[in-house]
Amino acid sequence: MFQELAVLVVRRSYDSREPRIITDMSRRAGSRKSAQFTESVIREMTRLSDAHGAVNLSQGFPDFAAPEAVKAAARDAIAADINQYAVTWGAHPLREAVAREFSRRYGIAVDPDEQVTICCGSTEAMMSTMLATVDPGDEVVVFEPFYENYGPDAILSGAVPRYVTLHEPDWTFDFDALAAAFNDRTRAIIINTPNNPTGKVFTHSELTAIAELCCRWDVLAITDEIYEHIIYDGCRHVPMAAIEGMADRTVTLNSLSKTYSVTGWRVGWAIGPGRLTAAIRKVHDFLTVGAAAPLQAAGVAALSLPDSYYEELATGYQRRRDMLLALLEPRGFVCFKPHGAYYVMTDIGGFGFADDIEFARYLVREVGVAVVPGSSFYHDQVLGRTKVRFTFCKRDETLNEAGRRLKTMRAPVSKQAHGVVGSP
Ligand SMILES: Cc1ncc(COP(=O)(O)O)c(C=O)c1O
Repeated sequence: MFQELAVLVVRRSYDSREPRIITDMSRRAGSRKSAQFTESVIREMTRLSDAHGAVNLSQGFPDFAAPEAVKAAARDAIAADINQYAVTWGAHPLREAVAREFSRRYGIAVDPDEQVTICCGSTEAMMSTMLATVDPGDEVVVFEPFYENYGPDAILSGAVPRYVTLHEPDWTFDFDALAAAFNDRTRAIIINTPNNPTGKVFTHSELTAIAELCCRWDVLAITDEIYEHIIYDGCRHVPMAAIEGMADRTVTLNSLSKTYSVTGWRVGWAIGPGRLTAAIRKVHDFLTVGAAAPLQAAGVAALSLPDSYYEELATGYQRRRDMLLALLEPRGFVCFKPHGAYYVMTDIGGFGFADDIEFARYLVREVGVAVVPGSSFYHDQVLGRTKVRFTFCKRDETLNEAGRRLKTMRAPVSKQAHGVVGSP
C-alpha cells in the first residue's frame, strides 16, 4: 500500500549532471492513517450550507452572543498584554478554576498541579489523551452513534475500535453486547454524556455497569462531558469519575465551547489521575504547546459565573429543543426527544429517499436547511441510513426560518412508515 502510493519520477538533481530516481513525496496521497478517514461530514455540511445560503442546523455552534462578562474578560486580558505562551499544560488560575468547579459540583478532589491539562478544545484533549494512553493495536470501545471525531482519533492513535450500538428510541445498550466488547486487549472505553448526536444522558446505573467492566478488565474510561450543563427534563449529569472505583481510571474531557457559547476560542481540558496527566501533558506540549493565553484568562471568568447562569443555559436550550420538535414533527420527521446536548436525531425513512445523504443533499439544496446525515455517526453506516441530525443551538429567528422553509416540503405518506416511498 505504502509503495503503491509513492510515485516515482525522474528528476535532475542539483549536485549531479546525472538524472536520478527519487520518490516524489509531493505526489503521494498522504499517510496510510490519513487515508482511512474522510474529512469531517459535519464541517463539510457547514461549507455546503454557506454555498447554498441555507439555514445551518448542521454544525453545533451557537449563532447568538457569548456571555458579556466572558467577552469582557478576554478583552481585558489582551489589554493587559497576556499575549505570550501560558505554561504549556495551562495557566495556573484556569487549572485552579477547573479543579475547583469539578470538586464543588461532584465532590471529587482534583489537584490543579497534577491532574489538569488545558488543551486547544476538548478535541485536542481527546487526541492528546488517546495518543498518551493507547498503544497501536490496543482496543478501544466506542458506542455508536458517536461524535464523528472518535473514529479518526482511534485511527490516529493506532487503536482498534470496538463498536457497541445504542438503540433508539431511548438509545439504550445491551449489557451483554457491551461485555462481549471487552477483553484483555481493551485499553479504554470512550463515553460521551450527555451524548451527541442522540441526546442520551447516561444514568448512574448504566455508568456503574460500565465501571464494573472497566475494573474487571483494567480499562480506562475517557469521558467527553462537554454538554454537562445542557441537560433537560430533570435529568442529572453523572460524571464517570464519580462512580465507585473510577476516579483513578477516568480522564474527563470538557471545554468552554458549548457551556459558554465560544466554540471558536478553542479552550478545553482533561482531568485525570496524575500518572496519566503526566503522559497527556507531554503529548499536548508537542502537539500544540498550549491554548490561547488571553482566552485561558477569560476562561477563569467563565468558570466563575454564578449557578444561575447554568440554570438559564439549560432552560433556554430546553425551550429551543421544544421549539425545534414542534417544527419538525408536523413535517413528518420522527424525532427522538433528547434529554441533553443540543441535537435532535430524527428518522426520515418515511420521506422515501434512497438514504440519509440524498436526503441531506436535497434538504440543503432545494429546501435551504442544512443537517448532518445520520450515517456519519455510525461505523455500521446502514444504521444511519434513515437518520439525520438537527442542531438547535440557534436563535429563535433562525429556528423559525428553518421551520418556514421546511413547510415547503411535502410530508411523507406515513410518519411511521419507514422505508415506504413517500414524495421527495
Ligand atoms: C461530543 C463532542 N465532543 C467534542 C466536541 C468538540 O469540542 P471542542 O470545541 O471543545 O473541541 C463536540 C463539538 O460538537 C462534541 O459534540
